[in-house]
Amino acid sequence: MRILVTGATGNIGRHVVAGLVGAGRRVRAMTRTTQDLHGVEVVTGDFTDPSTWPSALAGVTRMYVFSRVPPELVAQAAEAGVRRFVVHSAAAAGFPPRGRATALDRHLEEERVAHRAVEASVEATGAEWAHIRPGLLAINTLAWAPRVRAERVVREPYPSAGYPVVHEADVADVAVAALVTDDHVGQALTITGPAKVTQVEQVAAIAAAIGEPVRLDELSPEEARVQWLADGCPAGYLDWRLELLADAREGDGALPPTDTFERVAGRPPRTFAQWAIDHAADFR
Ligand SMILES: NC(=O)c1ccc[n+]([C@@H]2O[C@H](COP(=O)([O-])OP(=O)(O)OC[C@H]3O[C@@H](n4cnc5c(N)ncnc54)[C@H](OP(=O)(O)O)[C@@H]3O)[C@@H](O)[C@H]2O)c1
Repeated sequence: MRILVTGATGNIGRHVVAGLVGAGRRVRAMTRTTQDLHGVEVVTGDFTDPSTWPSALAGVTRMYVFSRVPPELVAQAAEAGVRRFVVHSAAAAGFPPRGRATALDRHLEEERVAHRAVEASVEATGAEWAHIRPGLLAINTLAWAPRVRAERVVREPYPSAGYPVVHEADVADVAVAALVTDDHVGQALTITGPAKVTQVEQVAAIAAAIGEPVRLDELSPEEARVQWLADGCPAGYLDWRLELLADAREGDGALPPTDTFERVAGRPPRTFAQWAIDHAADFR
């Protein structure tokens, strides 16, 4: 059985490749670049260039589908012989509309529609499928790395806000289980970290991981808008990003922890403290 991994160089995809290699599976990795990925077969392919698809799909029976794979590529994969699809989706795909007209609700609805479209494209093939739906990824915190490296400081609004952010390797572990075992066929798996971690706790974990103090400077919402824009955040993201944090100052916010990882893997998910240790070099 040959497994095609799309998005194979991505934050999660590279761990999917490593996990499949560790499980002794035959892997083909699709990327627009050329690079060594754990010594597996690498094929140059582009979601936007159908002429690159046949060589990527030849001889493949299972496929890890990155969230930007178009429905035409999924349909062609099924015709080429793919019998199981595992989709890199998002928790938002399973959020029921909250019936509010805020920027956060509009964003979550856009995410739900986009990710459900990919999920629906694999369901429509009649092949086996599983949907991997991560909540907020711990790796988003890498946005803090340049300031931590340069000044040992993080500047954010709402320090008490937090989510049960998930380690990218845990998301990949669940995807690998769905690719290599028959236990998750037909399931949508929403994966989070073990518990809510506030921004104060995240900064403390990064400081502990690098062995040096890191300060958290609280910004007002207006100061945050100015900083995020200067950091390159699209203007259309400012409102929902602020609402997302404000939403999770107390309680669980939009996404409480799930027990999915523990049920699938038989062990607790990695903590944010572990994530910070794994990425200490990025912050040092
Ligand atoms: N950030 C979060 O908290 C969060 C939470 C849940 C879900 N998500 C979802 O996760 C996704 C991002 O995942 P990630 O962080 O793992 O991605 P990522 O690190 O940005 O990786 C993107 C991957 O997609 C590949 N790719 C992009 N465009 C391509 C194209 N035209 N043709 C072929 N390959 C292409 C890239 O390959 P090459 O560059 O090598 O070609 C790369 O491997 C988004 O859809 C997001 O909605 C994010």
